This record gives sequence, C-alpha cells and structure tokens, in this order.
Amino acid sequence: MSKTYFITTYGCQLNVHESEKLAGVLKQRGFLPATKLEDADVIVFNTCAIREGAEDRVFGNVGALKKLKRAHKEKIIAVCGCMTQQKAKAEKLYEMFPFIDIIFGTSNLYKFEEFLDKKTKRLLAYDEDFNLLGEDMPFYRTSGENAWVNIMQGCNNFCTYCIVPYVRGRERSRASADILKEVEKAVKDGYKLITLLGQNVNSYGKDCGEISFAELLTKVSEIEGDFKIAFMTSHPKDLTSDVIDVVANNPKLLKEIHLPVQSGSNRILERMNRKYTVEKYLGIIDEIKAKIPNVRITTDIIVGFPGETEEDFEKTCDLVRRVGYDGIFAFMYSVREGTVAEKMDGQVPENIKNIRVNKILNLEKEIKGKLKNGNN
Ligand code: 5AD
Ligand code: SF4
Repeated sequence: MSKTYFITTYGCQLNVHESEKLAGVLKQRGFLPATKLEDADVIVFNTCAIREGAEDRVFGNVGALKKLKRAHKEKIIAVCGCMTQQKAKAEKLYEMFPFIDIIFGTSNLYKFEEFLDKKTKRLLAYDEDFNLLGEDMPFYRTSGENAWVNIMQGCNNFCTYCIVPYVRGRERSRASADILKEVEKAVKDGYKLITLLGQNVNSYGKDCGEISFAELLTKVSEIEGDFKIAFMTSHPKDLTSDVIDVVANNPKLLKEIHLPVQSGSNRILERMNRKYTVEKYLGIIDEIKAKIPNVRITTDIIVGFPGETEEDFEKTCDLVRRVGYDGIFAFMYSVREGTVAEKMDGQVPENIKNIRVNKILNLEKEIKGKLKNGNN
C-alpha cells in the first residue's frame, strides 16, 4: 500500500502554494494524500507568523500529536514555514515537542526532499540565506480551477508592525520567461484562473531589471487560452496607473483590486511606515473607480496599532465609508517580536482592539447591505 501525507497550512496564499510544492515532492516519491491527519505517514504543518493567534494555533495543534507519535514512532512529523523561520520560535518548538522530527524555515523549503532522507534522529534546519526560491520544486496544485503562480517573494518595506520582511527576506523576482512558461502549462492543464502571487507584486522586476509588473500582466494575458488573471498583493505606494490601465482594459484581468490601507489616519500611517497618506490612497481609489466600472475593491485594516486614539480610529471608519469596500480583512494589531512597533509606546488594550475590530466588521456589513439595495 502507498504511504500517505497530510499537510496543514496556516496563513496566506503564498503558504498555500508552498504546501503545493511540499505535496509535489511527496507525490513524486509515491506518497498519496491522506484524508485524515491521524492516518498519514508524513504529517506536515506549514506555519504562519503574521499574528500571535496563528502561532498559538500551531503550538496547540502540534502539541496535540504527542500521543499519536508515541503510538506510531514511524510517522514523520515536520513543521516548516514562517514561524520556524524565526530562530527563537524554531528552537522553542524543538525543545517543547521532542516528537517533531524535522523543523525548517521558509529559506530551506527547497531542501524538503533532502530532509526527508536524513538519517539523523531529529533535524532543525535554520539559515538566513533567502537566495533560493524553490523554483525547481515540483508542485501538486490543490486549489480547484485556480493556479497560484509565484512571481516574486520577500518584502523591502518594513512596515513597523510586520514580521514578513524578517521571515521572507528581501524582494526577489522570478524571471518573466519562467513565469510565462509556468502559466502556459497551467492554462494547457485546464486552469481557468491564474493568480499571480507576491508580497508586493507592484515591485515585480525592480530588483533584477526585469520587465515591469504592468508589462508582465500584459504578457501573461497574451498567452492563448480561456482563462482569467488575478494578482495579490499590491502596496498603495507602488500601485501605478499603468497597472490600473491593464486591469481596466484587458479582458483577461478580473476587475478586482486588493489594496490594503491598514489605517485611515495619516499619523498612524506614518508610525506604520506605510509611505502614503490617506489623500494619496483615496486618489488611487478614485482613479480605479473612474477607470474600472463595477470594480471590486477589498482591503486589509489593522486596528489598535500602538498610539491609535479614538480619533484615529474614527478616521479609519470615515475612510471605510468613503471607499465603500466590497470586502474588508480587519485585524487586531498583534505585537511581533523584533519589529519596530514592538517597542513603541501607546500599546492599545486588547478589549479596545476587540471593540474596534467589531465596529469595522459591522461597518462592512452595513456597506454591503447598502450596496445590495442599490443605495450607494
Ligand atoms: N498584527 C495584525 N495584523 C497584521 N498584519 C500584518 N502584520 C500584522 C500584525 N502584526 C495584517 C496586515 C496585512 C495582512 C496580511 O496582515 O493588514 O496586510
Ligand atoms: Fe508586511 Fe508591509 Fe511588506 Fe506587506 S508591505 S509584507 S505589510 S512589511
């Protein structure tokens, strides 16, 4: 009988796609997907570090495997991803849970196959060199009609709350020729939606003199076949008119833009190191709406960032009303070790963050209700 695997993925689409790569390695070795975690011979947790809650869930869910591993010593348990790209967290997991066999971070993803073959009893692989993107890894797509296609990785922005630049390294773009080849194959294989992925897609190409993101979108759209194109995520400071024009005029592009604003207060945006103002952001929104009729605009918002007063928060509510988003991902600020905001004064109590996040979610419902009734 074939051996099986089970992968639990936390976090963003990039992680989902990286789990597809882990699955690709396992499939190539003859493993099949298990329907239940308990039945699998190889159990993988691909972790996320963006907020404390995501990390707590990993500690809880991995910890719960103690009994299973005691009864089945032959099973391999691996923990990888953004959480284990932080040295202290990787070491903590290693010490707390002696039944984990393999721990490695995002920078070592491409070594997964090598790690599976290791004869040492336990393995903790940590390194800070992000040069390899795992480009040659096989992958096994698991997202229905959608094919995730990674175009760049890493982030140079250092928003003061965010752990991503530390666990994903600096921006690195893939060669456009490789991206186009991958899309061509996905389209040939019948995928109907191609979603181009990167922490900051609008920076595509800037690190290596490649074509611009707008040009890449056009080239991808020129591939023959019946498919649509989406992309995420855009940073408002880098979203240029040429990209808006491609979305507006190219029939292959979904009329959707995810544009995280994070806050509606200039004072907080500055403390977040977002490098744009509310006025600049609204200018982009107006351009998008003017050029793309019926466009779907979504956003991310953080409430309770250090120093956020009631007045700052009200400004975020005003902005939400003004834009009339089609979807909002609202998060309570979560302190991340090693970031600039960790050391900022004015940390907001949890109960206030809770009230504010609920207000944003209610506001979103209200707006959606109005949109449905055609009052907007
Ligand atoms: N706390 C809360 N939310 C965060 N995000 C990133 N870092 C944090 C943090 N420390 C949110 C941002 C980002 C989204 C992916 O996650 O809104 O756009
Ligand atoms: Fe994090 Fe800001 Fe980079 Fe997005 S742009 S990944 S929020 S540092």
